[in-house]
Amino acid sequence: MNKTLRLAQISDLHYCREPGGLLDSPVVTDHTLKQVLDRLALWAPDWVIATGDLAQDPEPVTYLRLRKTFAHYPFRVHPLPGNHDDPFLMTRMLGFGDGEPVKHLVAGAWQLLLLDSTLPGHQQGRLAPEELSWLDETLATNPGQHALICLHHHPLPVGSPWMDRIALANAGELLECLTDHDQVRGVAFGHIHQAFESEWRGIRFFGTPATCVQFRPNSHDLIIDKTPPAFRRFELHPDGRLESFVEYLSESGAGADREEKRRA
Ligand SMILES: [Fe+2]
Repeated sequence: MNKTLRLAQISDLHYCREPGGLLDSPVVTDHTLKQVLDRLALWAPDWVIATGDLAQDPEPVTYLRLRKTFAHYPFRVHPLPGNHDDPFLMTRMLGFGDGEPVKHLVAGAWQLLLLDSTLPGHQQGRLAPEELSWLDETLATNPGQHALICLHHHPLPVGSPWMDRIALANAGELLECLTDHDQVRGVAFGHIHQAFESEWRGIRFFGTPATCVQFRPNSHDLIIDKTPPAFRRFELHPDGRLESFVEYLSESGAGADREEKRRA
């Protein structure tokens, strides 16, 4: 298959036990997620990934509600856990069998590697030694496909001191691993509830806003931003180029989009 692949990244769904919001925000996480998924259904993506914090309340009922929501759409959502999730429960309740996550997706000229960066009991993230070993080995044994690495926690500082204190604690180990493999093109993450883009040693880094409440960029403490819910689209070309932009829902959820386009 030698075609451009469409990848959608949704992040920080924060689904609740019952339809509702979080952090005293009027945003209802069920409603905003449905709006995002409705748009994706029109786009017909090859892959959809959910980069963590799928649940606000990581309980079976929450994940079952989420599973029912996903079942209405013609694509499969591939999840990885965030600090709000229970990784095993999330994988099992979303229908991935015995709780073993799907971590490696390959199609055409591209591969996605989905990492678990959660550190139980902490908001901050950390990649366990076995996770880093798996990443290194998988990249080493699959040198023929361009790679996009996906995880919840941000491996580069985003400029908000409170948020950077709960980043990926051992980001240096991840970056060191990535530089050992020429096929790595990008890293996609959530957690920061805002858009972010950077580049380091030829590797592009993409932070994606939440499908619900956003945090104000460059703030010393947590401040809720009025920026609408959003998701990110990627186009992954056979030659290794990738294009990506964040698409925001309008304030009303029905009008024109406010798009932020960043082209390669
Ligand atoms: Fe989150």
